[in-house]
Amino acid sequence: MSKVLILGGMLVALSFAGEESIKLKDGEGKALVEANCSVCHSLDYIQMNSPFLDKKGWEATVNKMIKAMGAPIKQEDVPKIVEYLTKYYGKKE
Ligand code: HEC
Repeated sequence: MSKVLILGGMLVALSFAGEESIKLKDGEGKALVEANCSVCHSLDYIQMNSPFLDKKGWEATVNKMIKAMGAPIKQEDVPKIVEYLTKYYGKKE
């Protein structure tokens, strides 16, 4: 019984994540971020973390996605992605 309830909750969560309601700010690198970072989770992870992460933080996060989560991001794209995230979603001093 409780298993069924948990499953129901997960389905709801998944269908929410599938909605394309998240629009990232326009700028160089946006397409790269959208293509590479929406594969496994919603792009709202980026918005949610933008108050906390500076350049080092975003760099660490992107590398964690690659090394720990197995994200198939090209090494040459990493600096562009980090630059975009820092510029538009970096922690403000
Ligand atoms: C291979 C799958 C995958 C890809 C691709 C991926 N992520 Fe993640 N990401 C995860 C998982 C798994 C978690 C942690 C699980 C959770 O909390 O839902 C996570 C969590 C996060 C978090 C939350 C903070 C944290 O450190 O856990 C942020 C921010 C994030 N990802 C950003 C990104 C960005 C930016 C990209 C693109 C460069 C990206 N992700 C690409 C799998 C991925």
